[in-house]
Amino acid sequence: MPPYDKLDRSAQLAPKKPAKNGGQGVLQGAISGFGAMAARAHLPGWQSRNGVSIVAVHDPVRERRENAIDLIRNVRVYDDLAQMLRNETLDFVDIVSPPDGHASAARLALRAGVNVIVEKPLCLTAAEFQELINLGRRYRRLILCVHNWKYSPVYRRVHELIGAGVVGRVQYLSLVRMRSEPAATSSSGAGWRLSSAAGGGILIDHGWHCFYLAHWLLNGDRPMAVSSYFQFHRQSGVDDLADLRISFRDNRLVNVLLTWNAPVRRTGALVVGSTGVVEVEDNKIRVGRASGRSVEYSVSEASDDSYHPGWFASAAADFERVLKEGPDAEFARVNLAEAATALALTIAARKSAARDGALITVDPVE
Ligand SMILES: NC(=O)c1ccc[n+]([C@@H]2O[C@H](COP(=O)([O-])OP(=O)(O)OC[C@H]3O[C@@H](n4cnc5c(N)ncnc54)[C@H](O)[C@@H]3O)[C@@H](O)[C@H]2O)c1
Repeated sequence: MPPYDKLDRSAQLAPKKPAKNGGQGVLQGAISGFGAMAARAHLPGWQSRNGVSIVAVHDPVRERRENAIDLIRNVRVYDDLAQMLRNETLDFVDIVSPPDGHASAARLALRAGVNVIVEKPLCLTAAEFQELINLGRRYRRLILCVHNWKYSPVYRRVHELIGAGVVGRVQYLSLVRMRSEPAATSSSGAGWRLSSAAGGGILIDHGWHCFYLAHWLLNGDRPMAVSSYFQFHRQSGVDDLADLRISFRDNRLVNVLLTWNAPVRRTGALVVGSTGVVEVEDNKIRVGRASGRSVEYSVSEASDDSYHPGWFASAAADFERVLKEGPDAEFARVNLAEAATALALTIAARKSAARDGALITVDPVE
């Protein structure tokens, strides 16, 4: 049984006042789930912010708590999230545990009156999404999902090019994620990524990123219907290939291809507009125009590991700013609209794959 189930029934934490910036103008934060992503991207991101101090870490695994002690000066560590929320006076909790624990941890933190930032996926069901939004409203606390690919220099540039009208009106978008295996976790091997009970599978792991990117690149447009085809990992049974065809309004089409069985690692995109195309392969960007002219807009960036610490540092800066603006900030509204789109597509794509690729209407999640 996941540890949070027990906590949720036993612990109704009284909401505390937020830490009021620790009394010294520094936000007091904690991390729940100190695995690879937390240690390699979130922690360096928070440590790059003068206005933030990570004062506590929660992780059920002793080695991970010890790793936190090694990396963070004076940190207090917990194996119990409810206890951390009771003992600490926090401005926020950063949830970086495996996907199946996100909703219950966010619920507990919001009920304790603590702002929340959550790694993708924000949650796994429409009911969880609704509950978290309602808790955020009730306790006037922020809840944001980490959409770090929006900070990737490549996709920022693609977004700028589309916004500047370089390819005209976007008609078609293809997003491709090829990997030869799931990313490693802090435990040995692929860990939760190969467990459907823990929220594994490639759709959740990579699809969420493609869905909020599509939402962003199509200027907030909503998906209408999806047809999807999955293949499954032989031993674990989780989806390890997902091929999706998503229709948006006005005949706009998005294709998403995700695989953990590719012979090479590639992250690519193709944007077809009314007057030109953008082709993306890793850090290379090429714009082709109807005139036949072709222009390179490539960016240079340090190697693409699976954790992207630089992108999280930018996400952390936005979170810090939005925390000061409050839960009604425009940034928070847009972030939750992206998360709602990503979740709605995840649910509909699963239904479609279970029905041999039948076209499934994407029910809005709100
Ligand atoms: N945005 C990105 O680019 C990106 C990249 C990698 C991972 N992630 C996300 O980060 C999260 C963690 O992934 P990871 O690769 O670090 O995995 P990981 O397995 O390395 O880390 C997970 C950590 O959570 C701990 N944990 C397990 N159950 C827990 C619970 N109930 N409460 C708190 N902690 C618990 C584990 O002990 C481990 O230390 C996932 O949600 C994943 O989707 C995002």
